[in-house]
Amino acid sequence: MKTEGGPPLNLNPEPHAASDRRRLRGGAPIQIGLLGCGTVGGGVLRLLAENSGYLAERAGVPLVVKRVVVRDLEKERVSALDRGLLTTSAEEVVDDPTIDLVVEVMGGETPARALIERAIDRGKGVVTANKLLLAAHGPALIARAAARQVDLAFEGAVGGGIPIIRTLRDAFASDWVERVTAIVNGTCNYILTRMRDTGASFEAALREAQDLGYAEKPDPSLDVDGHDAAHKLIVLAMLAFGAQVDSGAVHTSGIRTIEEADHRYADRFGYTIKHLAIGRDLGDSIELRVHPTLIPKQSVLANVSGVLNAVLLEGRAVGPSLVYGRGAGDLPTAVSVVSDVLDVARSIASGVAGMQGRGMSIKPRRVRPLSEIVSRYYLRFAVEDRPGVMGRLAGALGDAGVSIEQIVQQGPTKASQGAAPAGGAAAREPAVDVVLITHDAQEGLVRSALDAIAREEFLREPPHLFRIEEP
Ligand code: NAP
Ligand code: HSE
Repeated sequence: MKTEGGPPLNLNPEPHAASDRRRLRGGAPIQIGLLGCGTVGGGVLRLLAENSGYLAERAGVPLVVKRVVVRDLEKERVSALDRGLLTTSAEEVVDDPTIDLVVEVMGGETPARALIERAIDRGKGVVTANKLLLAAHGPALIARAAARQVDLAFEGAVGGGIPIIRTLRDAFASDWVERVTAIVNGTCNYILTRMRDTGASFEAALREAQDLGYAEKPDPSLDVDGHDAAHKLIVLAMLAFGAQVDSGAVHTSGIRTIEEADHRYADRFGYTIKHLAIGRDLGDSIELRVHPTLIPKQSVLANVSGVLNAVLLEGRAVGPSLVYGRGAGDLPTAVSVVSDVLDVARSIASGVAGMQGRGMSIKPRRVRPLSEIVSRYYLRFAVEDRPGVMGRLAGALGDAGVSIEQIVQQGPTKASQGAAPAGGAAAREPAVDVVLITHDAQEGLVRSALDAIAREEFLREPPHLFRIEEP
């Protein structure tokens, strides 16, 4: 087949490209330095070993692990590891001129950041799954890699095995992403699913998640207080909205305050509670927030259960699009990391390193303060059951300009079953739950109503507030 007056079209360029790559490097393998051999590093070694023939075919040259960096040389490791490769000297690996590509799966900021910078400065490709580091220093690392014309790839950093980074960077590069609504923390999603499905308390569901290895022991706060999801949202915002954001600018709340009763009331109103990472591009600013959210029971995200993750993207041209799957674990995350290794290796072997960050524009953007966001709200108040209370609640909301859509009262609550007042004081009225759903309201107005209600003596415990989204 020939084009009009042009050269013949090559409809199957891949075999030629592979042999060109072999010629470029003289068939020399891509040598990998692996920093870390824990959960993800072990999975990476397994995948590289099990799929070596196929990966070499795809890369055009063999992919060979040359050194593996750990802290403890004696620890038991995956059988795919040749223990002769182990070292504790990360600097030596990063400085080794025969190593082409560094895979950082140690985690944390120190020494990972300095090692990645050093690898980039020595002209090596880098693959990392470190969302904490990317949330803090992603734009600077991407710029550094671009300046050195090397690749920095990080598919494993968000959503484990689900291809969300590539989707945003490549597949949706031609569109304008307006909204990202994501379940990106499997631990929170597991705990909330168990609370909803079995009526378990937060504490019981957390213990179960810890026993199954989903939540960290003894301190699960990175996950259950929302910080892990916030790190991932910052990485997503970098790609979706070209935004450089400080983690302090992302409103972040976790799932500790959710009680069994909240799941029951949410269900009664037709919702389920999910821990969501939400990003919106509003043109002059962006919204970035991580918090428990009520979403309609029949929505797709409501049915993402257990440890699974999902990211719902809404593009101006493409409309809604969902990626869904296993967001953590050795092999799912290794699939993303090794696919990055393959991409970066291919670029090195083809002599076109540095393509990953090309044309990427990441700039500081204003994050809209929470007080300015507009949402519907679920509010639950434990109040004394006596005349006038409902009126004063509704009055405080009305005075602030917040309109009520639905309201129910049910009791007695847990707050009414506490110990009797000390010193023979008169018993208080029993407490009941008043639960209401507002119409769209600005958060600042809702907060000022809650401040007024907090001064009322009929309130037995701090109110529960959750935002409602209709993704
Ligand atoms: P991990 O199981 O704790 O493994 C960390 C590895 O790094 C260990 O082999 C450890 O050595 C080594 N290491 C840590 N600090 C070191 C240091 N200063 N010097 C030398 N070696 C050091 O962690 P992981 O779960 O595999 O996570 C790794 C990265 O992937 C993190 O950034 C994490 O956020 C990210 N990630 C994890 C998952 C997941 O499902 N686990 C999913 C997505 C992304 P020793 O073994 O000797 O202690
Ligand atoms: N701790 C994370 C989660 C997995 O629970 O989703 C690593 O990203």
